[in-house]
Amino acid sequence: NPLIISDKDKMRQWSRSMRAQGKTIGLVPTMGYLHEGHLSLIRDAHKHSQSVVVSIYVNPGQFSPTEDLSTYPSDFLGDIDKLKSIPGGVDVVFHPHNLYDYGDNSNDRSCWNDSGDQHGGEREGREVVSCVEDGGMGHETWVRVEKLEKPLCGKSRPVCFRGVATIVTKLFNIVEPDVAFFGKKDYQQWRIIQRMVRDLDFGIKVIGSDLVREPDGLAMSSRNVRLSPAERDKALSISRSLTEAKAAAENGQVNCRELMNSVIRSVQGAGGLIDYAEVRQASYVVDQESLEAVEEIKGPAVFCVAAWFGKVRLIDNMEISP
Ligand code: PAJ
Repeated sequence: NPLIISDKDKMRQWSRSMRAQGKTIGLVPTMGYLHEGHLSLIRDAHKHSQSVVVSIYVNPGQFSPTEDLSTYPSDFLGDIDKLKSIPGGVDVVFHPHNLYDYGDNSNDRSCWNDSGDQHGGEREGREVVSCVEDGGMGHETWVRVEKLEKPLCGKSRPVCFRGVATIVTKLFNIVEPDVAFFGKKDYQQWRIIQRMVRDLDFGIKVIGSDLVREPDGLAMSSRNVRLSPAERDKALSISRSLTEAKAAAENGQVNCRELMNSVIRSVQGAGGLIDYAEVRQASYVVDQESLEAVEEIKGPAVFCVAAWFGKVRLIDNMEISP
């Protein structure tokens, strides 16, 4: 059975005692409602480190007040059962209550069940306000990966990656892992964390794990449960059209505009609302410029899509190697 730790000082003490015993620590950060995609990260963690910590924390700092923080699914006991079922299990589940609570009474107002409406229409500069600020938490230090946070998901979710980089920094400082695992499902997030770790000299190795799909092709996501059966069926247009685009590109169709148009047409044809559908450079060398827009596929590329089906925003991507 995993040890469940919610206190950050206890978490750090545990890690330091592991390190004193000469054991390496792998960290898998999650927001819970675990599925096979998360579990594959944990399997990878067992391959690379001698002890495994999974964090489960729905981070208000990466949601804007208008986003789905209050409806983000959770099932802590179900998550624990899933973690017990993996060979090797996990050593610790780090499950903090509020990582923006510094014990100085600066945040009596929780933003968890907040409809986000108390500022009404006067919320100027909403694009850089996260639920943390909206909840009056008194937190003001943020980590930003300035270029990589801008395109793709950064356009429609401007606070997201600042919140991710900040919470991952906090988790790194609390858990002090040797290795950390991120899924390529969130491709841009993975690249941002890699860049942050390099730029800020975290002595942590970042490993990107492959995207895991449902048998019918839908990219696994905690948000999939919020799709109606009909929406879920229509959402398959994303992975289907991406698979077709990948095949076309690998058969010589290198014009990204054409490839993007075919994906946009099929997702829209299925009733999806496209947020973006873009081909980007997928260089694995962290000190090269990455995620640059691509017009013609000449080297490794990644086709990234975000689309709304009903009230759910889904992301997916496929790597293309011409
Ligand atoms: P969450 O969406 O719970 O995802 C946790 C980790 O699981 C991320 O690294 C994500 O890329 C990976 N993951 C999710 N679905 C996957 C899939 N289908 N295949 C492979 N990996 C998948 O991403 C977050 O949480 C948060 O932003 C977090 C990094 C925890 C910071 O709050």
